[in-house]
Amino acid sequence: MAISTSFLLFSASLLFFIVSPSIQASFRPKALVLPVSKDDSTNQYITEIKQRTPLVPVKLTLDLGAASLWVDCDRDYVSSTYKPARCNSAQCNLARSKSCGDCFEGPRPGCNNNTCNLFPANNVVNSATIGEVAQDVVSVQSTDGKSSGEAVSTSKFLFTCGSTFLMDGLASGVNGVAGLGRTKVSMPSQFSAAFSFPRKFAVCLGSSSGVVFFGDGPYSFLPSVTDISKSLSYTPLILNPVSTAPSSFEGEPSSDYFIGVTGISVNGKLVALNKTLLSINKEGHGGTKISTVAAYTLLQTSIYKAVVKAFIKEIPGVPRVKAVAPFGVCFDAKSISSTRVGPGVPNIDLELPNKVVWGIIGFNSMVNVGNDVLCLGFVDGGSEPTSSIVIGGHQIEHNLLQFDLAASRLGFSSSLLFQKTTCSNFNFTSAAYVEHSSI
Ligand SMILES: *[C@@H]1O[C@H](CO)[C@@H](O)[C@H](O)[C@H]1NC(C)=O
Ligand SMILES: *[C@@H]1O[C@H](CO)[C@@H](O)[C@H](O)[C@H]1NC(C)=O
Ligand SMILES: *[C@@H]1O[C@H](CO)[C@@H](O)[C@H](O)[C@H]1NC(C)=O
Repeated sequence: MAISTSFLLFSASLLFFIVSPSIQASFRPKALVLPVSKDDSTNQYITEIKQRTPLVPVKLTLDLGAASLWVDCDRDYVSSTYKPARCNSAQCNLARSKSCGDCFEGPRPGCNNNTCNLFPANNVVNSATIGEVAQDVVSVQSTDGKSSGEAVSTSKFLFTCGSTFLMDGLASGVNGVAGLGRTKVSMPSQFSAAFSFPRKFAVCLGSSSGVVFFGDGPYSFLPSVTDISKSLSYTPLILNPVSTAPSSFEGEPSSDYFIGVTGISVNGKLVALNKTLLSINKEGHGGTKISTVAAYTLLQTSIYKAVVKAFIKEIPGVPRVKAVAPFGVCFDAKSISSTRVGPGVPNIDLELPNKVVWGIIGFNSMVNVGNDVLCLGFVDGGSEPTSSIVIGGHQIEHNLLQFDLAASRLGFSSSLLFQKTTCSNFNFTSAAYVEHSSI
């Protein structure tokens, strides 16, 4: 009798184990959301995920072009589910790592033998190091596109271990970088693979708060329920075959997102520019990328000078005042009208292929530096920058940008202010923070 009882208990628990994971795995979110806030002292966009076992909140600087998620593993990394990626494993292949080795001060997170490495980068100050590739649990809120829902987690999320010195220049309280770049191991690629949703993600930044969506729309903002994903303009994403990161493996393409700006117009008039600078050359230099770690759009010196000159010409009668760094030209704000979509100044248009135009309105072109001074919010990027145009944070605030990795195209909404909403208006609800394991 004793034997048959324990057999029954055994089979009952076996049944439990077979059934329970399949129930949980059947919850597949359609999309995920991350909240974004802006750090006033650095102008960095900060997001937060939960990672490790037990889960802890981890604050990260959002870096659209960074290859992977990385965190500082040297400080307070405690997790029972941390697993380094062994040399030649599927994880190392996915990460396209060409570096493998031992670490003699371990074992601990970030320092194990027979593991592959990547180059976690801090693009704010242009530094990088070599760091162990590893996997651990990551948990993020799901969404139906209208409000945030239950948290879901994936147990095998690949990331890179950074070091404490790499934190220099990142906002205070931040513990690493959220890499959304063009790689197989970036956050969008991994979430799409883990939850089987389309290889799309969207970034909508605001001057106080914003949101990142992983997966397809709807993307809706209060007070209306209009789905912004239905009214986007599209332009191809361009692959730069040469890495633009501070450190990279030989032959590695850029993980930054480039678009094909063919010209810039001010008040509808095309500005004469050196076209060579607008395309990407054999060394990977030139062209236009989008960055969330550049606070303001950077223009190569000759482009900067031409655009500034054209802009000044188009607002005759507005007195200039002493420029406030990092800007080169500022105006008396009292002489500029204010409108629903920011200061009433001429539009600056980025001309894209097939007559598509990315219009930059006053809200995104001008920066209020206080004391009744408004500056043109573009910065001289130097005479030989790696990329000729770097579209920065201020210029994309309250514009929703959708990156469609499968179709290699960028969808952009133009300013949500025209639709009487902002990127800060996503309905984040914290009430439904129920852990829901998946995958
Ligand atoms: C790595 O291997 C070396 C021997 O090759 C050994 O001395 C060291 O303790 C190992 N380190 C870890 C972290 O296992
Ligand atoms: C925000 O989302 C929650 C949860 O879905 C919902 O109950 C609430 O009505 C929404 N708020 C608004 C203002 O629509
Ligand atoms: C245009 O830019 C290219 C690349 O920097 C440079 O080699 C060339 O001299 C420039 N042309 C003119 C007319 O300035």
